[in-house]
Amino acid sequence: MIDAIRPLAVVTGASSGIGYELARLAAEDGYDLVIAADEPAIVEAQSGLEQYGGRVESLQVDLSTIEGVDQLIALIGGRQVDVLMANAGRGLGHGFLDQDWAEARFVIDTNVTGTVYLIQNVARDMRDRDRGRILITGSIAGLMPGSFQAVYNGSKAFLDSFSFALRNELKDTNVTVSCLMPGPTDTAFFARADMLDTKVGADPNKADPADVALAGYRAMNKGEGDVVAGFKNKLQAAIAAVTPQSVLAQQHRKMAEPGSGDL
Ligand SMILES: NC(=O)c1ccc[n+]([C@@H]2O[C@H](COP(=O)([O-])OP(=O)(O)OC[C@H]3O[C@@H](n4cnc5c(N)ncnc54)[C@H](OP(=O)(O)O)[C@@H]3O)[C@@H](O)[C@H]2O)c1
Repeated sequence: MIDAIRPLAVVTGASSGIGYELARLAAEDGYDLVIAADEPAIVEAQSGLEQYGGRVESLQVDLSTIEGVDQLIALIGGRQVDVLMANAGRGLGHGFLDQDWAEARFVIDTNVTGTVYLIQNVARDMRDRDRGRILITGSIAGLMPGSFQAVYNGSKAFLDSFSFALRNELKDTNVTVSCLMPGPTDTAFFARADMLDTKVGADPNKADPADVALAGYRAMNKGEGDVVAGFKNKLQAAIAAVTPQSVLAQQHRKMAEPGSGDL
């Protein structure tokens, strides 16, 4: 029997949080999946996603390295990618001068270098075929200077900007680029960034990653430029657009300074 041809979605950072939910939405929609993340949990994610009936291939790989991204490209193996959700990312709290350089660099290499290298490879094929959808997980953090999360916010400012630039470059094609801009979301993100003692990290009212992913997935399917997930975050994004950078930096200090969660 010949298998029906199913569309293919590639999702990075699909082992947990927003990325797992994005992959689940694609699986429910009938996509085959290629998923990647850095730790063994990606294999458990694969089992969870296989229940939707499609083919799921997982890769445990460090996407902060060119070699790691090359492994993912090799697994894709020239197949037509219908959807790319470039979501893998890592945060890092504390003052910049108190951060370990290797950790700060890992944030830049994962969020920026690995992400745009993967996008360049996959999007070239999409442009050649004149078809494809790309969703980049940026952040509202990219709209404000991130005191005590400076490198992370800078990396997301890069992605928010990059997303709209690539979108414009592809405007005469049928390849769309959308940017998902979540606000604080209830995932492993803050624990991994060592920010649980901060006001934002300790906030009990963070968004549900399933809701955030759905907002992004829908925006991608409609070919929208960006989506800020959640009303409160939409308001914060609108205010950020008309607020001086120095004021935003001070506001960010209040929510991200170590110990601010104990006040
Ligand atoms: N949570 C928030 O408040 C928030 C807000 C705005 C934007 N975001 C963005 O949303 C995205 C998903 O984060 P999340 O909140 O869902 O946190 P999460 O649960 O920690 O998910 C992060 C995902 O990225 C993967 N990843 C990180 N570094 C990687 C690397 N070097 N190589 C391969 N995979 C890597 C992780 O895999 P491993 O577990 O295997 O490392 C995991 O699957 C990130 O880009 C983050 O910046 C999050």
